Amino acid sequence: MTMRGQVHLASVVKTHGNFHALKGIDVRIEPGEFFALLGPSGSGKSTTLRILAGLDAPTSGRVMIDGEDVTSRDARDRDIAMVFQSYALYPHMTVGENIAFPLEMAGMKKADIGLAVQDAARKVKIDHLLDRKPGQLSGGQQQRCALARAIVRNARLFLLDEPLSNLDAKLRLETRVELKKLQRSLGVTAVYVTHDQEEAMTLADRMAVFMEGEIQQIGRPIDVFAKPNSVDVAAFIGSPPMNLVPARYVNGMVRIGDSDFQTSHSEQGERDVIVGIRPSAVRLSPTGVAAKVELVEHLGDAAVLDLDVHGQRMRARVGDEGIPSEGDEVFISARAEDIHLFDAVTRKRL
Ligand SMILES: Nc1ncnc2c1ncn2[C@@H]1O[C@H](COP(=O)(O)OP(=O)(O)O)[C@@H](O)[C@H]1O
Ligand SMILES: [Mg+2]
Repeated sequence: MTMRGQVHLASVVKTHGNFHALKGIDVRIEPGEFFALLGPSGSGKSTTLRILAGLDAPTSGRVMIDGEDVTSRDARDRDIAMVFQSYALYPHMTVGENIAFPLEMAGMKKADIGLAVQDAARKVKIDHLLDRKPGQLSGGQQQRCALARAIVRNARLFLLDEPLSNLDAKLRLETRVELKKLQRSLGVTAVYVTHDQEEAMTLADRMAVFMEGEIQQIGRPIDVFAKPNSVDVAAFIGSPPMNLVPARYVNGMVRIGDSDFQTSHSEQGERDVIVGIRPSAVRLSPTGVAAKVELVEHLGDAAVLDLDVHGQRMRARVGDEGIPSEGDEVFISARAEDIHLFDAVTRKRL
């Protein structure tokens, strides 16, 4: 099998009147990748996906699939399958008929359709439901039916726009795992839109972080988590979010509250910075910065502390040993390698 499903968006711009929904998107997605478009609501993820699918035309820029310029090609000639948040199943057709529909449209022979439908339905474990109507299925089963309808076409690219957001929390977790397994076993390229950073972190091989119509960062989830390249990305990824506090950098040190922290930077000089420390990297220690525990959120095997650090609010995630109480005075510290520095003006990583 030749590798297919490679995507290249080049300088893609989309405007609505004066409003720039996309300000120049450049991204390459490799065959077989699970690639997430992650970002807050309104950041341009769905617009990007729709342009890739051919449901919307870019104002400028090009869409390349498998090395071919498909910018002006119709959606139905792009060999792409799309799954949306709403399942968009035909309510008057059975599950089997819904899955068969794209094949009938393509003119496949009846006998072949039957086999293909069985095969696709088995892959998402709804082969026992083929005679039901969508209205007789649970939300999770409806989403599987939509997936089967995508699988059956043997498309080179799967586009998914928040496909799990209508499912309840438990089902969402289960379906997430199955979706990943399914994508692996099909070997198909998946482009997956989500505003849920945890979903992107767990599902994606790589992801692009969208903010206000621009991609801020592209990389493997662990790399983006470890080295966010801006304050905005740092604030968006990780739960609870990274502590971000303004501070003064002086010769490798930053001052927070009444104490100096050693950073992993060694440049001489002074500048205003934003210091980032993940809650899990904040340590309770015998000495360090004085902090007052305002609130303790117990998570069972850990706790999140809300701290007042000389008027700044910070959070710390601590293990279940020695959890302080509300009102306690504690000291906090952080290792130099856990301290992220961002320029106070450009908000870019230093
Ligand atoms: N047809 C349209 N006319 C005007 N603005 C639009 C249109 N479609 C989308 N937008 C705007 O473009 C921005 C990006 O939208 P969208 O790609 O749907 O965001 P996301 O999927 O990241 O939530 C939003 O601010 C949205 O309101
Ligand atoms: Mg959207």
